[in-house]
Amino acid sequence: MSTQVEHSRMFRRGRALGYLEEHDRHLTAKHDPQFSFGFIGCGMMGQEHIYNTLLLGRARVGGLYDPATKSIETASQLIAKNGQQDAPKIYASIEEACADPDTDALIIATPNYTHLDVMRAVAGCNKALFVEKPIATTVADAFEVCQLAAAHSRPVRFGLQYRFKSVYAEALTEVFERQSVGRVHSVNMLEHRFPFLDKVGQWNKFSVYTGGTLVEKCCHYFDLMNLFAGANPQRVFAVGNQAVNFHNFVYDNKKADGLDQAQMSIQYDNGVIGGFSLCMFTPGTREELVVCGDAGRVHASESARLGEANENRLEVWCGENGASSVRAPEYPSYITAAGHHGSTFFEHLSFVDELSGGAVSGPNLADGLWSVAVGAAAQLSIERGVAVDVAEVLPADFDAAQWVKTSYQEG
Ligand SMILES: NC(=O)c1ccc[n+]([C@@H]2O[C@H](COP(=O)([O-])OP(=O)(O)OC[C@H]3O[C@@H](n4cnc5c(N)ncnc54)[C@H](O)[C@@H]3O)[C@@H](O)[C@H]2O)c1
Repeated sequence: MSTQVEHSRMFRRGRALGYLEEHDRHLTAKHDPQFSFGFIGCGMMGQEHIYNTLLLGRARVGGLYDPATKSIETASQLIAKNGQQDAPKIYASIEEACADPDTDALIIATPNYTHLDVMRAVAGCNKALFVEKPIATTVADAFEVCQLAAAHSRPVRFGLQYRFKSVYAEALTEVFERQSVGRVHSVNMLEHRFPFLDKVGQWNKFSVYTGGTLVEKCCHYFDLMNLFAGANPQRVFAVGNQAVNFHNFVYDNKKADGLDQAQMSIQYDNGVIGGFSLCMFTPGTREELVVCGDAGRVHASESARLGEANENRLEVWCGENGASSVRAPEYPSYITAAGHHGSTFFEHLSFVDELSGGAVSGPNLADGLWSVAVGAAAQLSIERGVAVDVAEVLPADFDAAQWVKTSYQEG
């Protein structure tokens, strides 16, 4: 019998007890990873996945594919620095990555506009797949990605990991397990943050490559709102524009065109109403979720001024129904520091558990599609200046009964 604490990564991360022989290691013993992953796209997010793969320790990095030499070089350095002694293969093409008999899964972290083509290239290979969000730049393409994923013989995951952030995971527990707010009637979210960071080829400055800011970035929030609302989004009204950022930004003779602020209302088909606020010219990052029900209110937030430490906070108001509380949900700091406030680590844990034959958790294929559909409907609403039925952006042959999002119990 051994305790969970004996297996803590805390003991295995460094080699602080460098004088010990291998046969004297127990808490600090390294375990051979069970799986091997190939990485397609090794920029910022690909490297976050590589780091989390090695931190989790249940898979090694088997190979890398990226046309950018610098991305390959920095990813290779990251792998060496984080304890993997043998260098990964460097593939010459996606096809080579698919044909590698030594990997079990491919992690795809290429720019949004490439996801459909990459998915077409990898679909049918004998490996599990992980595809970053948003799964495509249009709803039609997202639907094709979902159809390819549904026909794939191995597990397919999409990168909507915010539901694994500590504040939102705890908010889900409060709302659905403890029923702290009673029946949910409204879900509001806010993201106020700094401008889009630099990217390889600066693809994220152009709507044609991102799908529009409300698809690119905000699919995360729509996934959360859809989950808390417990229903399908029906109608969206949005206003927004490119108010401040990148007005003088020109790349390859093209002017940046992504919007940097928006306000949105969402009507769900069970009567829940949603609101979303985006500002991308803030000297810091602040995310908020407010869920109101007939018995209480849950307010979750992450907040950091630029360059300062983040603060998590969860406020639960229960009135006379029970104890209200204010707390600061946190993962261990080395997990939080691994990216996206620790959610990427838990996303990997959930993916690797599924590969090991364990429970399937996390977002499903339909969640990927619906999160893009809300963003696309919002972009269209801004363009037209009127509310848009989400049904209008869904493919003509879309059958909502077949594409059922996760409910909290499944997710
Ligand atoms: N889940 C999240 O929280 C999160 C956060 C950031 C980015 N992302 C997503 O991850 C993806 C990558 O974003 P990023 O920030 O890493 O961008 P990035 O520009 O930093 O890296 C993208 C990498 O993909 C490479 N690439 C381009 N086309 C390729 C192809 N066809 N095959 C293989 N490699 C290719 C580029 O050379 C680059 O190295 C995007 O879809 C983005 O939306 C998700």
